Amino acid sequence: MTQFQGSHILSVNQLDLEAVEKVFSVATRMTPYALRQKRTTVLDGAVLGNLFFEPSTRTRVSFASAFNLLGGRVNETVGMASSSLSKGESLYDTARVLSSYSDVIAMRHPDSFSVSEFAKGSRVPVINGGDGANEHPTQALLDLFTIQKELAAGGRDISGMNIAMVGDLKFGRTVHSLSRLLCMYKDVSFTLVSPKELAMPDSVISDIENAGHKITITDQLEGNLDRADILYLTRIQEERFPSQEEANKYRGKFRLNQSIYTQHCKSNTVIMHPLPRDSREQANELDNDLNDHPNLAIFRQADNGLLIRMALFALTLGVDAQLEQYERPV
Ligand code: CP
Repeated sequence: MTQFQGSHILSVNQLDLEAVEKVFSVATRMTPYALRQKRTTVLDGAVLGNLFFEPSTRTRVSFASAFNLLGGRVNETVGMASSSLSKGESLYDTARVLSSYSDVIAMRHPDSFSVSEFAKGSRVPVINGGDGANEHPTQALLDLFTIQKELAAGGRDISGMNIAMVGDLKFGRTVHSLSRLLCMYKDVSFTLVSPKELAMPDSVISDIENAGHKITITDQLEGNLDRADILYLTRIQEERFPSQEEANKYRGKFRLNQSIYTQHCKSNTVIMHPLPRDSREQANELDNDLNDHPNLAIFRQADNGLLIRMALFALTLGVDAQLEQYERPV
């Protein structure tokens, strides 16, 4: 099994099924702490370096909250302009220095493979919070955890399911990481819906095919959702396009609203989205008229991010077995 303690978490390719199940088991044990029903100070005295060189709401704040809920403290760097990276300092030097100030580092950066580059200089574990269009491993873990829980609630399983991934599959790093995690299961059918120019990268397609899964690739939403157990929507990743005009060509092509859902999906199709959803009129890939639908899992998905990130800190810092010993009154 993947060794967590003292290790970087840079890619889902590092993980095997046993490791994923270990993360899920520790994440489940984190529930009473995340819900503030219990309190632990298992990471008292530990410091998280939370380095976000690209905008984020969920990932940045849930990493920080997860560390705080385990009793640790957080040092944040937000935005490239507030870092000496903007003066030409290398990722390696930045990592060498900041890893002396931290016990673990979470990092997001706009360039693919930059977090791995940074990790080469770090003396403490580095967790990838998203590197360009490449990967978002902690999002994929929370997505898979959500899929497992949502399907289990209806007596279904990941093996044998159909997942429809819709939107910008080229630049959407969450679908790259999630697809690779799904390669560890059996008989998953993928329906990949995107404009041809924003199709899933060939390397991910090869991984899915090599796992023996069935893939349907299409640029049409309607008529391709009727078998989906999971409908995973993504926004057009405008920050990866050369211009707004280029991104605008693809906005609004695929939209889900109550009417389309009712007409084209099974009654038990679970709706997911890594968020943020683009709520601007010209995009609106997931309409607010589904906000109260019981199958809309997007906020349960975001809540699960806290559990997964608490678990990853406990595992990488080797304190998962000691949680209860450090319990304090609420
Ligand atoms: N899902 C996700 O990565 O959200 P943020 O960009 O807000 O962190």
